[in-house]
Amino acid sequence: MYQMPLKISLKNSAVLLVSFFLFIVSFDKLYAQAEAVPADPDVIAAGEKLFKQNCVVCHKIQEKLIGPGLANIYERRDIAWIQAFVKNSQKVIQSGDTYAVDLYEEYDRTMMTPFDFSDEEILSVLAYIKDQTDNPPEAVVISKEAGDTGVTAEQELFARYMNFILGGLIITLILMVVVLVIMSSVLRMFLRTRSDLDEADREIVSQRFNLLALLQSRAFIGFMAFIFTAIAFKTVIDQLYEIGVQQGYAPEQPIAFSHKVHAGEYEIDCNYCHTGVMKSKNANIPSPNLCMNCHSSITEGVNTGTKEISKIYAAIEENRPIEWVRVHNLPDFAYFNHSQHVNVGKLECATCHGPIEEMDVVRQHSLLTMGWCVDCHRTTKVNTKDNAYYDKLVEFHDSPDMMTVESIGGLECAKCHY
Ligand code: HEC
Ligand code: HEC
Ligand code: HEC
Ligand code: HEC
Ligand code: HEC
Ligand code: HEC
Repeated sequence: MYQMPLKISLKNSAVLLVSFFLFIVSFDKLYAQAEAVPADPDVIAAGEKLFKQNCVVCHKIQEKLIGPGLANIYERRDIAWIQAFVKNSQKVIQSGDTYAVDLYEEYDRTMMTPFDFSDEEILSVLAYIKDQTDNPPEAVVISKEAGDTGVTAEQELFARYMNFILGGLIITLILMVVVLVIMSSVLRMFLRTRSDLDEADREIVSQRFNLLALLQSRAFIGFMAFIFTAIAFKTVIDQLYEIGVQQGYAPEQPIAFSHKVHAGEYEIDCNYCHTGVMKSKNANIPSPNLCMNCHSSITEGVNTGTKEISKIYAAIEENRPIEWVRVHNLPDFAYFNHSQHVNVGKLECATCHGPIEEMDVVRQHSLLTMGWCVDCHRTTKVNTKDNAYYDKLVEFHDSPDMMTVESIGGLECAKCHY
């Protein structure tokens, strides 16, 4: 009679104890997970690269984008679960994992791309996420690159300095004129009171400035004619130089696609859409299928509602390409290769295309003339650092630091002309 309750309570306490223990263990495990995420700067850097290349189009750390914000994810979920989910989220969802199914529904059944990553690689991405969670980036100051406008800081300073001096000179001149006018009228008043002047002197003193006579004078007409011809001549010359030059060209596109929204606000990497820049001559304009990676779920834009995005669906339905109007166009006899410049030369897109991520409508930023290509080849040093191909060349070169594109043959006609 006595033993029954004791037994029960023993069993109860055992269950209680075990579950308490389990609770502690799991809490501790999740907590310990945060510790298990590497903090090695090299690993973080590797993770940053993977994250920026693969995840940034859909995920931010602190906020929701197309997928959830990933801050603290290594504390919220089991690391093994995260690894399985990143490798193949659909597999986890189909296994009936309730958390994954709910999340999938919450995000309107947007499919996360499967990634062929190793566990270590995913761990490095988590290391980067942890680093960003612990040290949230402060508002980024977008510094204008010096090469961006072709104007260096010193040149800008010099220009401002010159403006200052010019302004000062103009003010001094005006002051001098005012002082002279005052002096002459004072002198004239003084002379009029004198009675010992003869007739000729009196005439000079009372003489008035005759504007009409000046305008009709031969010297004035000749001078004006000269200025007019000079301006006309200069305009014609400028126009001649600009034939075939389309700097600033910004045609209207069939869909109001905005780089400011995609590359600017949502920071989608240029390579994500222009897939060719790193490996081929052409940069490629994305097909409507690529737009659908995101626009199968994003059906409305803040600025244009459904009007523009629905044109993507129309193109997909009718199975036709979107007829984008070309902005940049070299003549057929000139050869330009993107991968040579972006991948080998390590140039930024902005050096040639300007701040695309601020443009609602793309416009041609640079001249794209032969002079433009050649000027840069004369002045730009070849990036020899991480390119084994140049090692031999550097050995033979007296001053490898001064090795410009010109010195590797960048001015040879045949390099750019077929
Ligand atoms: C095409 C868009 C897309 C890409 C690319 C993408 N994700 Fe996702 N991710 C999602 C969506 C959407 C979800 C929400 C679940 C769902 O709908 O499947 C998600 C969910 C997650 C979750 C679970 C989040 C939570 O709060 O539980 C993790 C972890 C995750 N992603 C990691 C990554 C990593 C790491 C990468 C890069 C290697 C990546 N994702 C790339 C769209 C994407
Ligand atoms: C050295 C200057 C330079 C750099 C750097 C550069 N571009 Fe270009 N880009 C050009 C020129 C020149 C053209 C015109 C090519 C033609 O008409 O054959 C062009 C054309 C394009 C086009 C139109 C399609 C095509 O391939 O002709 C796209 C898109 C483009 N660039 C994107 C990019 C992106 C993205 C980057 C950075 C990853 C980049 N460019 C870097 C000079 C450059
Ligand atoms: C990696 C994801 C992604 C891809 C790929 C993508 N978009 Fe978008 N797009 C977005 C996001 C995010 C928005 C912003 C929605 C909003 O305004 O809230 C957007 C908005 C838009 C808008 C509406 C802009 C506005 O503010 O009204 C248009 C139009 C658009 N996209 C066209 C395209 C076209 C065309 C393509 C293919 C060339 C494309 N998008 C590819 C993510 C993407
Ligand atoms: C979401 C996809 C997407 C992203 C991201 C994107 N672009 Fe584009 N880009 C397009 C589309 C679509 C066009 C054609 C329509 C147009 O000209 O606006 C285009 C056109 C261009 C052109 C003009 C091509 C021509 O006709 O000469 C340049 C240059 C360019 N992009 C550079 C960039 C750069 C640099 C970035 C990164 C800062 C970038 N793009 C990011 C989709 C994208
Ligand atoms: C902003 C600077 C810049 C501009 C503008 C530029 N280039 Fe280049 N170009 C480079 C650099 C840097 C390299 C060297 C890349 C390397 O390391 O191979 C290069 C290399 C080349 C090469 C290969 C040369 C060789 O000897 O292998 C060709 C061809 C070329 N550019 C064509 C052009 C054409 C055509 C234009 C104009 C439409 C142009 N480039 C505009 C910087 C530029
Ligand atoms: C770095 C690349 C590059 C090199 C080197 C180069 N060119 Fe050009 N050239 C171009 C480009 C790009 C154009 C097209 C310019 C345009 O459309 O305005 C061009 C245009 C021309 C034209 C047409 C006239 C014009 O100015 O539009 C002639 C002729 C010409 N090049 C001759 C030469 C000769 C001769 C050489 C060797 C001494 C040479 N080029 C070297 C890139 C180059």
